[in-house]
Amino acid sequence: MPTNPNAPDSSASTKLDSHPTAPASSASSAPAGKRPAPPCTLVIFGAGGDLTKRLLMPALYNLTVDGLLDPQMKIIGVNHGEQETSAWRDDLSKALQQFAADKASTFHTAKLDEKAWDSLAQRLEYMAGEFESEDTFSKLKQKLENTPDGNVVFYLAVTSRFFKPISEHLGKSGLLKEGEDGKGFRRLVIEKPFGTDLASARDLNEHILTYANEEQIYRIDHFLGKDTVQSIMAVRFANALFEPVWRREYIESVQITAAETLGVEGRGGFYEQTGAFRDMLPNHLFQLLGMVAMEPPNSFDAKAVRDKKADIFDAIQPLKMDDVVFGQYEKGPAGQGYRQEPNVAPDSKTETYAAARVFIENWRWAGVPFYLRTGKRLAARRTEIAVQLKAVPFRMFRDTPVDALTPNVLTLRIDPTHGTSFDFNVKTPGPVMQIGAVQSAFNYNDFFAESPNVGYETLLYDCMLGDETLFQRADSIETSWAAVDDVLHPKGDPVPVHGYPAGSEGPAEADALLARDGHTWRPLQRDADKK
Ligand code: BG6
Repeated sequence: MPTNPNAPDSSASTKLDSHPTAPASSASSAPAGKRPAPPCTLVIFGAGGDLTKRLLMPALYNLTVDGLLDPQMKIIGVNHGEQETSAWRDDLSKALQQFAADKASTFHTAKLDEKAWDSLAQRLEYMAGEFESEDTFSKLKQKLENTPDGNVVFYLAVTSRFFKPISEHLGKSGLLKEGEDGKGFRRLVIEKPFGTDLASARDLNEHILTYANEEQIYRIDHFLGKDTVQSIMAVRFANALFEPVWRREYIESVQITAAETLGVEGRGGFYEQTGAFRDMLPNHLFQLLGMVAMEPPNSFDAKAVRDKKADIFDAIQPLKMDDVVFGQYEKGPAGQGYRQEPNVAPDSKTETYAAARVFIENWRWAGVPFYLRTGKRLAARRTEIAVQLKAVPFRMFRDTPVDALTPNVLTLRIDPTHGTSFDFNVKTPGPVMQIGAVQSAFNYNDFFAESPNVGYETLLYDCMLGDETLFQRADSIETSWAAVDDVLHPKGDPVPVHGYPAGSEGPAEADALLARDGHTWRPLQRDADKK
């Protein structure tokens, strides 16, 4: 293990090349209140892919450091192309070193734990196989016959066109058949995109449900793996302060933002087919909406939580064309335009920005606008939920020099800073009655040692435990797509795409969307960022 994790890649990879042969052992013991996941074999389809290298392996490494993997757990990586297990391990160890040394990576860490990597590496086995060939699945079946416990998690870390063939082969070869009395579980993990509209999502659900039960399917939305997203429920339901005002009588509007400074980062081909709206809105942003708007569940049990979230998706009013604004970045302070990106058509109409006004038609939220926005190459990276409270009656200030009151806003900050902020008003010091807007902020890292987390640790761990709370159910996937279907398949012209300079706050038309309700977007770039 190199002593300097910031060393250049070439040297960083050297020491991890040794292949441990020592018996499996957890590198350390599980944190208080947590037990290691049950023994199982994790089969990763797409062993050579970006998701495996960038997120799954770092997450498995972090779980190893925390002692949360069973000593007997094995990981089989399936990919097309012959390769020795040793070469796969080398490749992964290099990637891990590289991400550890990269300050911009979520996995960045001062020092990798050699014992933990050794423990993880010796669990890894590579298996060459085409995802659409029957042969792959009979080979896999033979391998899995030797698993002592029979528990298997199949992780589809592959492009979405393989979802159907892999689940079909798994089903037909009997690999999804569970043992009796819940023994020998078989679970299927699927990443987004889960369909591209209502019809394709229904079709995919139907297909997969032919081979697996709903309880066996773990549909991942990686936003739910973020601690700060999981904490939304804690902020709402573990404090007496917020819940009483969490309703239409007190809340003026809610803004949900997922703004990125990055462009399409070489994913032009994918993005041309997808666009910002499909990529982010009915999945990630709706998940945040669900967390913030759901009724209190009776418990943190998976069914209780998912039922309450499902009620919200069901109550979202189908989005109308004039409630949506699309944008596309053009040359600006942050660089070239989208149309100049590789694999993007020079006359592309794909949106890289989407904003929407959403209404939830239920007793708690009727009439409260939820403004959602997401985009690439914006002025700042910011994922947050801002809950704005209604204005207080101004009357008592009428004979004072105060001319306006700043609204109370509770902001749940998800990325890149983690915490909550509350904007409120105080009297400024001095003899005259003047009001000053102030902010009280809580930052996670001021209170807690934030443990290394790439966002997949909880999801992988929960899947092995069989806890489905943070995974999406078929019905919610479909109701979410149903809410946006009129926009995806308009009867008339498609939503127009407006230009915005790369590095800006987004298209002016998005401001107009809020202006008609007398609202404004919270600036992405804030004074605090400029300091
Ligand atoms: C992915 C989208 O699902 O989420 C990407 O496909 C997007 O386009 C990413 O950049 C954002 O996730 P995060 O965790 O970086 O905010």
